[in-house]
Amino acid sequence: MNSIKDHENLGSKRVLLRLDLNVPMRNGDITDETRIIKIIPILEFLIKRNSKILIISHVGRPKGKLNKDLSLKPICEYLEKKIKTKINFINEDILKIKRDDLFKEPKEKVIFFENIRFYAEEEKNDSNFSKHLASFADLFVNDAFSCSHRTHASVCKITEFLPSFAGLQLETEVNALKKVTIEIKKPITCIIGGSKISTKIDVIKNLIPKLNNIIFVGGMANNILSFKGYKIGKSINEDNCEIIIKEIFEISKNHFCEIIYPEDVLTGKSTDGVAQTKDLGDIIDDDFILDLGPKTLKKIKNIIENSKTVLWNGPAGYFENPNFAKGSFEIAKTIIRKNKDNSIYSVVGGGDTVAVVNQLNAIKNFNFVSTAGGAFLEYLEGKELPGIKALN
Ligand code: 3PG
Repeated sequence: MNSIKDHENLGSKRVLLRLDLNVPMRNGDITDETRIIKIIPILEFLIKRNSKILIISHVGRPKGKLNKDLSLKPICEYLEKKIKTKINFINEDILKIKRDDLFKEPKEKVIFFENIRFYAEEEKNDSNFSKHLASFADLFVNDAFSCSHRTHASVCKITEFLPSFAGLQLETEVNALKKVTIEIKKPITCIIGGSKISTKIDVIKNLIPKLNNIIFVGGMANNILSFKGYKIGKSINEDNCEIIIKEIFEISKNHFCEIIYPEDVLTGKSTDGVAQTKDLGDIIDDDFILDLGPKTLKKIKNIIENSKTVLWNGPAGYFENPNFAKGSFEIAKTIIRKNKDNSIYSVVGGGDTVAVVNQLNAIKNFNFVSTAGGAFLEYLEGKELPGIKALN
């Protein structure tokens, strides 16, 4: 990969900068700023060199349609305060913008476009759309490792139209994960949770041969419970996963990887509700599964105790409500304690999982914290990520 660090002549060049500012939000407020903090170095680096910066990012999954609830404006305002530099937020139709419309004001340094996923062309990796975006700038920088597993226009296709470079955070993440995969020590336990089931379920099949234990928690576990014939009430799950789950069990049997999933859970009548401990057979139609039960938690903590490496992506429950945060916090605390006595190598990845660790003020107690969730898992799987391949 060509690194932006080695580019010698950035002064007054227009840099199209792909960032991942898909940060956790609740009621319009940013609940974890890690992804914002991590991209400040690239902004400072470019500003110092007098580059003109054009930020492209996404938040959420608006599926190619304008959705006011998924505007990047609040994130742009937050970033503006952090870098103490005026940012021009542009929410006009990007397809109508021409190169000469941008940076009309000579002092202007940073432009921030509205959610790129409001355009269907983005997820289609559309060539004309990429060419149009490329026409705004002189070079492209990808500093969004966490969406480099997506074959999208502003991540992949764009590299065909501009000299393209790896950003500072992307390089840091790739180098750290490279080291993790080379130096990894067994027994290896991977904890997978969260709600992006379809993104992760395919990855798991390929990860299993590398693991000793795989622990399903959070939304991911609901699919396993449903597959095993348990009622899951109104809990999130994904349709048509049976074949993949069957394969997951078969592959893990062949590779001696133990699969662990909840034996008991905490349920609520809504995400804002109170918790009730239930055995699997007791879940009724209007229940939401929102955290792990005490028996399951005890089992998971024991597995972590006996592991040399723990890879964790996806919270164990709806940790945004303290009534359902115990599972995630207890997992984190067990890893932290093991990390403090140097008896475990721990890697955590993903916006929400990092938010859990941040709430405990314990980022420093993990060996590596990746901003990426899906990309982190795909990298561990050994896949070449399309966004990284495009930079090569
Ligand atoms: C993430 O949060 O993992 C990235 O922003 C990618 O998001 P996506 O899964 O919606 O593509």
